[in-house]
Amino acid sequence: MNERVANPAHPRVYLETYGCQMNVADSQTVSAVLRRAGYVNADGVEDADVVLLNTCAIREHAEEKVLHRLRELARLKNSRPEVKIGLLGCMAQHNRVAIMEKAAFLDVVAGPDSYRRLPEMIGSAGFDASIDVRLDRGETYADITPDYGGGVRAYVTAMRGCDKFCAFCVVPYVRGRERSIPPADLMREIGELAARGVKEVVLLGQTVNAYRFGDTDFGALLGMIASIDGIERIRFTSPHPGEMSESIIDAMATEPKVQPQLHLPLQSGSDRILTAMERGYTVAQYLDLVGRVRAEIPGVALSTDIIVGFHGEEESDFELTTAIMREVGFDSAFMFKYSVREHTRAFRLGDSVSEEEKGRRLTALIALQEEMSLARNRAMVGHKFPVLVEGSARRGGGMMAGKTPQFKTAIFRGVEGIGAGDTVNVRVDSATGHSLMCSIA
Ligand code: 5AD
Ligand code: SF4
Repeated sequence: MNERVANPAHPRVYLETYGCQMNVADSQTVSAVLRRAGYVNADGVEDADVVLLNTCAIREHAEEKVLHRLRELARLKNSRPEVKIGLLGCMAQHNRVAIMEKAAFLDVVAGPDSYRRLPEMIGSAGFDASIDVRLDRGETYADITPDYGGGVRAYVTAMRGCDKFCAFCVVPYVRGRERSIPPADLMREIGELAARGVKEVVLLGQTVNAYRFGDTDFGALLGMIASIDGIERIRFTSPHPGEMSESIIDAMATEPKVQPQLHLPLQSGSDRILTAMERGYTVAQYLDLVGRVRAEIPGVALSTDIIVGFHGEEESDFELTTAIMREVGFDSAFMFKYSVREHTRAFRLGDSVSEEEKGRRLTALIALQEEMSLARNRAMVGHKFPVLVEGSARRGGGMMAGKTPQFKTAIFRGVEGIGAGDTVNVRVDSATGHSLMCSIA
């Protein structure tokens, strides 16, 4: 058996991440904060002195997964009471009281703006839990370089928080107000990534295209980042349709490094529901935007988010959503059943669509999207694309994988001398809804 040797100067921390890319990026910041304070990484909960869960509150299902994990960790805490256990992120912010009732053994509860204080909080947690869920409209962690993993692609936080307050969404409450990282910090950080061999950056933010720092808007930021030598590809997620200014479309159209790929969350194809969701645009405005994007950025891939079964959604509203999905023909889509969230504006409205009906609508929509994804990918057969190689394909057998400019997974037989970070031209031979089988062109 592996004897654990505790070293108080270098406690071992095991950090588990749930939820979106923002949380993955935040965990890299947490990891950097703790490393500076002398912590080292544990391989698993078994050899950890500190176990941290970075959590998501976007839907009930996300919270249930974490609550399940907390029940497992309760057993760990029973057998090794000296292990400190912490809950970080959106769930900590969302429902700390309910969580402390369900998991009284927690030593640390830290919201997304409290990570700087984590070493202190972990150190002071004793009989009482150390709790900090203050939101701080000034906190951007701009001076902390996250512990980026290896790989050709890095996800870089450009802005934090959200001011949109869509009726269904808990994000503005748990992540606080919009704030942008100064361009100089982003330039420095991405410059360092390029020097380490990163070829592609994905700029992150809850409404990333609302980025603004002084006179620098998101379109200008894209142009600045494109000037960094070594960075070959730039993407961003997630933009808000209401913030897709001409300057951004222009940067996408004219700057070759900005890739022809856009995630544009639609949420619903019914104006009545969009109004109830307080999304701030109509279906006609959304379609007009799609038209302009497609006209100016040839070959652009579009993806979206859809919620089915929002309070008040009738069958006729749902049919409007399917009609728009057909009309636009998204390359891919994330589709969700509406989940009522406490604190949101829609909380008091209710939840009029039954779970069964939400399930039926979701299944129908997924089937439709698979049809559309397959058609979009099949249309690429015979065409050539530059693929940024990421490494061996999961299926093995000498196959390699990478992404096309449209962020589609391309699989091709590897050849001598081509490896991660290289760009190769491929021709698409066949397609599924999820990937493109290619040969080197
Ligand atoms: N229920 C279901 N889906 C939600 N999303 C956000 N809030 C909810 C909710 N309460 C979805 C939206 C958003 C994506 C990140 O998650 O589609 O774009
Ligand atoms: Fe949530 Fe709307 Fe903000 Fe997106 S824009 S994070 S859906 S409130």
